[in-house]
Amino acid sequence: MLELKNIHYVVHEGDEELHILNDVSLTIDDHKLVVFTGPNGGGKTTLAKIVMGLVTPTSGQIIWNGQDITELGITERAKLGISYGFQQPPRFKGLTVKDLLTLASGNQKLSKDMCCQYLTKVGLCANDYLDREVDVSLSGGEVKRIEIASILARNSDLMIFDEPEAGIDLWSFARLTETFEHIHHTGNATMIIISHQERIISLADEVIVVGDGTIRHRGSAQEILPQILADTLGGCPVLTKEVKA
Ligand SMILES: Nc1ncnc2c1ncn2[C@@H]1O[C@H](COP(=O)(O)OP(=O)(O)OP(=O)(O)O)[C@@H](O)[C@H]1O
Ligand SMILES: [Mg+2]
Repeated sequence: MLELKNIHYVVHEGDEELHILNDVSLTIDDHKLVVFTGPNGGGKTTLAKIVMGLVTPTSGQIIWNGQDITELGITERAKLGISYGFQQPPRFKGLTVKDLLTLASGNQKLSKDMCCQYLTKVGLCANDYLDREVDVSLSGGEVKRIEIASILARNSDLMIFDEPEAGIDLWSFARLTETFEHIHHTGNATMIIISHQERIISLADEVIVVGDGTIRHRGSAQEILPQILADTLGGCPVLTKEVKA
C-alpha cells in the first residue's frame, strides 16, 4: 500500500514562494489501477516524482508497504519495488535497447524472446530495435515506448507511468492499453498512470484529479469523467459564450 501524508512542495523563485503541492494526502491500495489526471501544471508529475524520490517534498511523508521511505533515494526505492516512466524519457547514448531491457529486468541473461515479449507489449518488433541505441536517433514515440517496455521488464510492485500515451500512435496505444488491462487483471502490480486519455481513465479503479497542487476530486471513472468534461466546458469561454452571428 502507498500512503502520502500531508505532502507539501514549495519552491522559491526570487522573492516568490511557489506552492506546487499543497497538503496532498492519499492512500492507494495494492493491485489497484489509479489514474492521476487534471489540468496542465496541476502537479501530477511532481507528485509522481515525489513517490519515486526524484523530488524531495518540503514536508510530508511517503509510506510504502508500511515503511517510511521519505528519506530514501531513487535506487533504494527501486529496490523496494517502485518504478517510474518519465513524461519525457531520457536518452542513453551508447546503451542499446537490449542493454536497457537487460538492466531493467535485472536478468543478465535476458533472452531475445523475453525482450521480444516486452517490446511487443508496446507495439515494437524486437528485430528492428534490439541493437539500436537509445539515443537521439529514436523518434519521440519510439523512445517513449521503449521506456515503457523497460518498466514492464522491471516488473515492479508499483509502476508509475507518466502520460504513456504521449506521442504514441493509435495502433501502439491500443496495444499499450491492452497491456495495462492485462497487468491489472493478473493483479501483479499497483499502477499509477498519469493520463489525459479517456480510454485510460476508463480503465481506472479510481481517478484522482490533481489541480493547483491539490486533490480536486477522486472517485470512479464513471463518476469523474462526466465532471471532467463539465469542468472543461465551464472553463472555456469560447465554448460557453453564445456566438453572435
Ligand atoms: N522546480 C520547480 N520550479 C518552479 N516551478 C516548478 C518546479 N517544479 C514544478 N514546477 C511547476 O509546478 C507546476 C506543476 O508541475 P507538474 O510538472 O507537476 O505538472 P503536471 O500536472 O504534470 O502538468 P502536465 O499535465 O503539463 O504534465 C507547474 O506549474 C510547474 O511549472
Ligand atoms: Mg506532467
